[in-house]
Amino acid sequence: MTISPPVHANADDWTEHVFGAALGAIDILAIHLGDRLGWYRALASAGPLTADELADRTGTHPRYAREWLEQQSTSGYLEADGGLPTRFSLPPGAAEALTDERSLAYISPLARMLVGAATHMPALLDAYRTGHGVSWDQMGDDARWSQAAMNRPWFEQMLAGALEGVPDVHGVLGRADAVIADVACGAGWSSIALADAYPAARIVGIDIDEPSIERARENAAAAGLADRVTFRPGDALAVDGTYDAIFIFEALHDMPRPVEVLEAMRRAVKPDGVVVVMDEAVGDGGPTPGDDVERLMYGFSLFVCLPDGMSSQPSVGTGTVMRPSTLKGYALEAGFADVTTLPIEDFGFFRFYQLHV
Ligand SMILES: C[S@@+](CC[C@H](N)C(=O)[O-])C[C@H]1O[C@@H](n2cnc3c(N)ncnc32)[C@H](O)[C@@H]1O
Repeated sequence: MTISPPVHANADDWTEHVFGAALGAIDILAIHLGDRLGWYRALASAGPLTADELADRTGTHPRYAREWLEQQSTSGYLEADGGLPTRFSLPPGAAEALTDERSLAYISPLARMLVGAATHMPALLDAYRTGHGVSWDQMGDDARWSQAAMNRPWFEQMLAGALEGVPDVHGVLGRADAVIADVACGAGWSSIALADAYPAARIVGIDIDEPSIERARENAAAAGLADRVTFRPGDALAVDGTYDAIFIFEALHDMPRPVEVLEAMRRAVKPDGVVVVMDEAVGDGGPTPGDDVERLMYGFSLFVCLPDGMSSQPSVGTGTVMRPSTLKGYALEAGFADVTTLPIEDFGFFRFYQLHV
């Protein structure tokens, strides 16, 4: 999907454009309500429902439920049957996109991330003035769990097939007794997916965020993989051990000192091992305005990743839009010989890089 960025020649067109953006922002805020209050899930499992029935099922107030239902049907997110009392239902496909946490179409966590970040606006404004940051820990549960939820389906459904298509990497991961590090593992979905795909491997997930490590342990236990997937709190700067493979999924751009992190990874990988960085599939900086991926990534960068990366100083302040040339510069400075892009296409908004020792 590509929505043309604004190129307008007069004030009215600019006003209309911003008005359209405001409607989109309202949609995001309302989706967050529907997600967090359990309204979409109730409609998906028991709809069509009246406002009173929805409120009753979800422990919410019927007057607010009615307002939200009306707003959602007015905006096209729900269908109203026109009866008295009116019953509301999710149109085809909406239940999957808004409630199915295993589906690649699942999109509600994006609203949670954006709304959650916006609740930190006073701290963000302060950071923008002072050059300080807003850490991942300050961003809190909305950031950590929406991040985990957004990436989970991709790891669960696509990671194994993607890696199988890269013989060099697949061969290393499939070694008997392979030990794999998942640096900045978050809630552990990538670690679990690696363990599922490579039954002889042992996975060590490392993250600086204690609540994420706790959740990752719970997730691995629930998957029946706690014997082969272990998690420990730690700073990526201090990764040590000896690994056949080291991954860092969508996190290098958050690191205040990415070169030092990559140096630690280079020291910790076996000479015949592999280091893989999955990060945003942004271009090398072409003409502006940019495409939707870059617009989204600059959005994450403004409100989440750059302030997080700046929250620990000194910081190089990478931001979400870590271009291939930037990554290559970091990798060479960290002592890697080369960086290549792996032939993994259509993996969400991501690109996979192999860093060669
Ligand atoms: C954008 S999230 C990505 C999480 C996970 N890899 C995923 O793909 O969902 C970035 C993660 O980096 C972790 N992180 C940030 N700085 C770190 C550091 N210095 N050492 C270890 N983890 C760090 C955060 O706690 C967070 O879990």
